[in-house]
Amino acid sequence: MYKLDSLSADHDRQGFDCGSEPLNSYLRKTARQHQTRGISTTYVLVEESAPVPKAIVGFFTVNICQVLAESLPEQEAKKLPRNVSAVKLGRLAVASDSQKSGVGKILIAGVMQTVLSVFDKVGGIGLFVDAKDERAADYYKKFGFVPLPERPLELFLPIKTIQDSWK
Ligand SMILES: CC(C)(COP(=O)(O)OP(=O)(O)OC[C@H]1O[C@@H](n2cnc3c(N)ncnc32)[C@H](O)[C@@H]1OP(=O)(O)O)[C@@H](O)C(=O)NCCC(=O)NCCS
Repeated sequence: MYKLDSLSADHDRQGFDCGSEPLNSYLRKTARQHQTRGISTTYVLVEESAPVPKAIVGFFTVNICQVLAESLPEQEAKKLPRNVSAVKLGRLAVASDSQKSGVGKILIAGVMQTVLSVFDKVGGIGLFVDAKDERAADYYKKFGFVPLPERPLELFLPIKTIQDSWK
């Protein structure tokens, strides 16, 4: 059975490999520093019964961000002040040997629960993500993300969609 943990020394960061060196390197070298300094928080998916250091099956990193309403699709930008706050999904990755078996979907569900709890406590208009390439953008579109006008690799999911689908 999987569980989602906040990244700590109990997790085997060095052993993680998702096939993308920038993502591996972020988890191994940067994620904990960013967490300690309040820049972002990383959550890791592990087997509940795995021995410490627990193998990481997948991870995601989120932070609070501020965006200009004018960068949103017209329909979403209506009636918003110039600056609005949201959650940014900075990174998402699944270990190579666990890809295409639904782990990405479990992580996305964790991301949505995080956004909903942030929304309950401090508000926020939704979730942004920078896709690393078109394949990643296609993956996010499956969950209802829409590309920003003229920036096809930056995608947005409104809070209403998240509430309707994941609450
Ligand atoms: C992209 C990634 C996170 C997807 O995770 P995963 O566990 O392999 O995906 P899942 O098994 O949960 O797939 C969920 C659905 O998306 C589909 N899918 C998977 N990758 C896809 C892609 N690149 N484009 C479109 N659809 C995709 C699956 O077929 C599945 O569809 P289904 O429910 O209709 O069967 C993972 O492959 C990964 O870590 N890749 C390397 C790092 C990366 O590209 N990260 C994205 C950062 S921007």
